[in-house]
Amino acid sequence: MNSSQIIATFGEFFERRGHRCIDGGSLLPPPGDPVLFTTSGMHPLTPYLEGKRHPLGRRLTGLQRCLRTTDLTEVGDSTHLTVFQMLGSWSLGDYDGPQSQRFGLELLHDHFGLRPELLHATAFGGNAQIGPDTTAAETWADLGLPVELLGEEDNWWSNGPTGPCGPDSEIFAWTGTGPPEGSPGTDERWLELWNHVTLRYERHPDGSLTPLTQRSVDTGMGLERLVMVANRAPSVFDTDAFAPWLPALPALWPQLADPEHPRPLRIITDHLRSSVVVIGDGVRPVPTGRGYVLRRLLRGALTELWRADPGSPLTLGDLPPEVVTETADQFRQPGEPAEVRSVLLAEERRFRQLLSRGRSLLARLYPSGSLTEADYQYLHDTHGLPRELVTDVLTRMLAG
Ligand code: SER
Repeated sequence: MNSSQIIATFGEFFERRGHRCIDGGSLLPPPGDPVLFTTSGMHPLTPYLEGKRHPLGRRLTGLQRCLRTTDLTEVGDSTHLTVFQMLGSWSLGDYDGPQSQRFGLELLHDHFGLRPELLHATAFGGNAQIGPDTTAAETWADLGLPVELLGEEDNWWSNGPTGPCGPDSEIFAWTGTGPPEGSPGTDERWLELWNHVTLRYERHPDGSLTPLTQRSVDTGMGLERLVMVANRAPSVFDTDAFAPWLPALPALWPQLADPEHPRPLRIITDHLRSSVVVIGDGVRPVPTGRGYVLRRLLRGALTELWRADPGSPLTLGDLPPEVVTETADQFRQPGEPAEVRSVLLAEERRFRQLLSRGRSLLARLYPSGSLTEADYQYLHDTHGLPRELVTDVLTRMLAG
């Protein structure tokens, strides 16, 4: 099943069960929202999860583009992405958590062909404030899934320090080659696939919780992960979500085509694809806020490209326009390859200036090549030199 079929199947499943489809919106939250980017499908629905009436009713479904900088250090493995799409379903004071769990397993099994013996569930095990979610745990057990109780860090959902929150129950899929082993808490080959959150509380600025008068259910599943699991693909990068990027990048930079070391290619692909979507939502690279996140993504990609092939005469301007148009299509954006190309090229020029300034600065200040933590901090904060770039420039400088 390709991504479009999976999106359509998900939407139809919930529409047949009385849900109305909402348009997945921009990565930019509405004015007044304190966060930089939309990080989950529920994010734009916050007022409705707090009790406001939604014009489309109490059962909703949709696909939302999301950006998470919290996962940046993990990007490069087989499952983490900076920008991704989240499939979601919501009950705004309608059905309860167990019904959502039943819908979830039915859809994964009957429509996406995921075998229950390759699935594992987790539920909230309780903390000092709230007891364990035994209802969720019993429901999973009744549905025939093994269930593990985990703590607040894994199974309590909130979208920020205040606002609606509650216990989370998650479905994991086995991605190992042999039969399943261990549990999600003990074996990382269990991949987190679909979160079902029962939003029952409001968190206040002093940390206290009060029950919400309307109890809602919020579910979210990363599209790229579902496509990977449904097709038994080894990574999210081996799905059609990345079809326009792979093989475009190794065709230009053959050093990236190394199956033994996929990390650099994955980081570059993730960061460039994410940048295209961020640019598509109107952000431009600047030294602060959203624009800084974009700049960091582009510098991350450019650093990896430079490390892979320092002498290459190619530029981001050599990328085929299809990587932009096809990515924009996937994310339902208009897609303006000429505009994206000019943003990428301007940022690449700045990066090259940074690189040559960095080279002379390092040769002058640190000829021996030994830097303390404070030196790295200074180079980053004062001269905008990322640590990986500094390390690489130094290695090459010392090698002669
Ligand atoms: N809000 C939950 C998450 O992002 C479920 O949608 O995982």
